Amino acid sequence: MLNSGGRKTVHLLGEIVVTGPKSLIAGNWKMHRGGAHGVALAKAVLAAASKETLACDLLLCPPAVVLAAVSHVVDGTDIATGGQDCHAENTGAHTGDISASMLAGAGATYVIVGHSERRTDHRETDADVRAKAEAAQKIGMTAIICIGETGAERDSGQTLAVLSRQIAGSVPAGATAAHTVIAYEPVWAIGTGRTPTVAEVAEAHAHIRKELGGKVDDPDSVRILYGGSVKADNARELLAVANVNGALVGGASLDAASFVAIARTAP
Ligand code: 13P
Repeated sequence: MLNSGGRKTVHLLGEIVVTGPKSLIAGNWKMHRGGAHGVALAKAVLAAASKETLACDLLLCPPAVVLAAVSHVVDGTDIATGGQDCHAENTGAHTGDISASMLAGAGATYVIVGHSERRTDHRETDADVRAKAEAAQKIGMTAIICIGETGAERDSGQTLAVLSRQIAGSVPAGATAAHTVIAYEPVWAIGTGRTPTVAEVAEAHAHIRKELGGKVDDPDSVRILYGGSVKADNARELLAVANVNGALVGGASLDAASFVAIARTAP
């Protein structure tokens, strides 16, 4: 059984009282598991998650071609689905693109925007990302807005400045906490097996929380996910950091047991 409900919860973690938004564990399948393999993975996650009580919400972001089928698998359960990108317009002559409303039609309630792979592969700017987030939020979807510094930016001491600039440029003005999630994904940690230290994660997330003030109606309610080489064996430590409200998981989300093992560590 999954545990869903109000957005704000208080969890008892041993002797520690953890307050804040309920954790979200999201799987970004990237360009993996289309067709029958995607349906099988969704069924395996559902079967594994249904056996226990999890303290977090679960989200699956499969490739667009299998989104409707995955949404069908988890329909009526507490597991949500999301797209990995959307166009800034609702319809139009944009060959190969997919709008937020099309994702919603395929059962998605979330969409990832501004992932560093899209910022790099498709040269997406902060303004592009903001327009996509706005398009999604306008139709009631939740935008997961990705930000994060490169290795060179961290090495030259620019991490917090980069995060400030990306928040200023990518988060729509007047966004509501209910429809905004931020994913902090240091580019150098994605798919590398390297992660920032707990102190570095804490510093980045506290900074993001501060920068959301004035941009979002209720900054304390915004879920700020950490992403980048989250695995079952490091998730507990990362998810316990202040202002970390879940994880955006790449590689480890392609295996149902690993994904649910990560979810099990959420406070
Ligand atoms: P990995 O978990 O494979 O490092 O990927 C992280 C990511 O990019 C999630 O969006």
